[in-house]
Amino acid sequence: MDKIMEQSPACGGAVDLSATPLLSVEDLHVEFSAAAPIRAVRGAGFTVAAGETVALVGESGSGKSVSALALTRLVAAPGRITAGRVMFDGQDLARLPQAELVRLRGSAISYIFQEPATSLNPVFRAGYQVREALRLHRGRRGAGREMVEELFRLVGLADPRRCLRAYPHELSGGMQQRVMIAMALACRPRLLVADEPTTALDVTVQAQILALLARLQRELGMAVLLITHNLALVADVARRVNVMYAGRVVEAGKTGEVLRHPAHPYTCGLLAAVPRLRGDADELHGIPGSVPHPAHIPPGCSFHPRCPRAGPLCARVDPEPEYFEEGRMVRCHYWK
Ligand SMILES: Nc1ncnc2c1ncn2[C@@H]1O[C@H](COP(=O)(O)OP(=O)(O)O)[C@@H](O)[C@H]1O
Ligand SMILES: [Mg+2]
Repeated sequence: MDKIMEQSPACGGAVDLSATPLLSVEDLHVEFSAAAPIRAVRGAGFTVAAGETVALVGESGSGKSVSALALTRLVAAPGRITAGRVMFDGQDLARLPQAELVRLRGSAISYIFQEPATSLNPVFRAGYQVREALRLHRGRRGAGREMVEELFRLVGLADPRRCLRAYPHELSGGMQQRVMIAMALACRPRLLVADEPTTALDVTVQAQILALLARLQRELGMAVLLITHNLALVADVARRVNVMYAGRVVEAGKTGEVLRHPAHPYTCGLLAAVPRLRGDADELHGIPGSVPHPAHIPPGCSFHPRCPRAGPLCARVDPEPEYFEEGRMVRCHYWK
């Protein structure tokens, strides 16, 4: 672990929110061209400071993954970024020449996804796959077996030697996700994008993987963008949260404040849908309906057809973002 930490420039540093953020996404638009344009991301914006964990939360289909992939222009055709800026460490990734972007993808920003089983190659041993990742980023000399073992220890794999030799199917889902995290750490990323990293795992393993991400973030000084549909998951892990709906952020703020005093009716709905340990089953309220398909976004506020607070204004006028308190933002005509 020491070797890895030495090489991490921001190691141990406290999050400085007054400094220029490491990542700043501004007015990001991503469209898939079809008969009617599919506007998957419509002006999303959020920031991540160096060493900070920030969550992007919303129901399935709200544009979280497309936003995450767009950060490094990984959205596959016919998808394309039609507007916006993705400032990372002073450079606009939306406009960076392809060759530089490829270098940056592997060296500064890395990703882990929902299904570790499909991200690992079934025919190669886990150790070999992580070693290949290391070789790619650090060259032959930086990719020794000890280095892989050290990474495996860092991600909490109990028997690193055995795991080195194991094929993916011989590892549990939680262990596979740890191997994926080890691989993502191989390039010493400054930002780890974790897209639903625990959704495919059972609840106890979910908690372990989240604790691991929190520990790595602290120890390596790495920033984490945690993407999830489960608002309950972010409480202990993320410092700030962005709630996304129909391709844009509708509420943002410090996690504790958003969870205690949600301003947007959508956030209230997401919170009400979180099951509580105590209380009656019929206290569990979902949000009626579903996220609109991005080819058919309703006019006005995109949430109004599902919104318990909607008034006549909401169907006609798209609410502008309003800023209140420190770092809080909401897009709703009636949030007060
Ligand atoms: N390749 C694609 N072609 C057309 N539409 C897509 C494509 N990928 C994603 N979308 C659409 O973009 C919207 C947002 O998707 P996504 O970002 O995956 O949502 P989330 O990650 O929040 O569940 C969805 O409605 C999805 O159908
Ligand atoms: Mg997704």
